[in-house]
Amino acid sequence: MMPNLTERTALVTGANSGLGKAIARALADEGWRVGLVVRDRARGESALADIRALTGHEDLHLFVADLADQSSIRELAGQILARFDRLHLLINNAATAYPARRLSPDGIECALAVNHLAPFLLTHLLLEQLKSSAPARIVNVGTRIDTAMDFTDLNWERRPYRMMQAYGQSKLGNLHFTFELARKLHESGVTVNCVFPGIFKSNLGGTDGAQGFFWALIKILLGWALPTPEQAARRILYVATAAELDGVSGKYFGDRRTLRAPAQARDPDVNQRLWEISETLIGAS
Ligand SMILES: NC(=O)c1ccc[n+]([C@@H]2O[C@H](COP(=O)([O-])OP(=O)(O)OC[C@H]3O[C@@H](n4cnc5c(N)ncnc54)[C@H](OP(=O)(O)O)[C@@H]3O)[C@@H](O)[C@H]2O)c1
Repeated sequence: MMPNLTERTALVTGANSGLGKAIARALADEGWRVGLVVRDRARGESALADIRALTGHEDLHLFVADLADQSSIRELAGQILARFDRLHLLINNAATAYPARRLSPDGIECALAVNHLAPFLLTHLLLEQLKSSAPARIVNVGTRIDTAMDFTDLNWERRPYRMMQAYGQSKLGNLHFTFELARKLHESGVTVNCVFPGIFKSNLGGTDGAQGFFWALIKILLGWALPTPEQAARRILYVATAAELDGVSGKYFGDRRTLRAPAQARDPDVNQRLWEISETLIGAS
């Protein structure tokens, strides 16, 4: 069972726009205390003011961090642990795409750093608090690109950089991470699932210069009849809060139904391999 209304604390990354903002708003509407993680204070304050105005809910907390930078993530986790004594729901939503290869301050290709390693590191840093707040849930927002991780060149040093491939591989990391973490969290009271929110209207990658190519292509392919972030958020909220999913862990959800993961992510050895590499990349081993 999820804890009662007055006790529920959630953290949503990438909460200033798109899906993250829609999720934060819906949780606020339901009375959750919500921590909003954003990279830009002004955009964050504007989103927080919008959500306050729309819901009348005051228990909203802004955290500013650059998820491309591991030192910023560590600082963020420290601030969250200092502000909240309990955490019942972590939604790893933030993601982006880069038109050209870029390295993070830690020397890691930025799509991998933000889309896979940031949730990996942030979850690690908050895990003890999630466990001590159990029952608790982690929801990783994934996507549905059928690709495979190129373990010979995770950092894109030997191949020409391809934005969609780099994005797809980093997002596949969300699935590998979900499956291996679920195994490790067995019977801990903390569940973890990955959700594909569908394709919806978005600014994804816009801040990092990817807007032109990425969304022009999707809009041409799908026209303007895309769902809104609020519609897409329903999928996430179902997995994050539905009572019938108490104890359900290690699944890949679409619209309230489980999806078949790409072959590579169904291989526990590969999941463990990426886990170990990720630990090295965050300096945990
Ligand atoms: N849109 C789709 O059709 C679609 C389809 C499948 C999956 N998804 C997934 O849905 C999730 C939300 O995407 P969205 O479409 O709602 O895009 P969005 O509106 O661009 O939201 C992404 C959020 O991540 C934040 N972010 C990006 N890089 C960051 C960094 N370095 N540090 C901190 N925050 C950072 C962005 O902040 P800024 O505003 O500062 O850039 C923004 O708040 C992502 O996980 C995406 O992969 C989307």
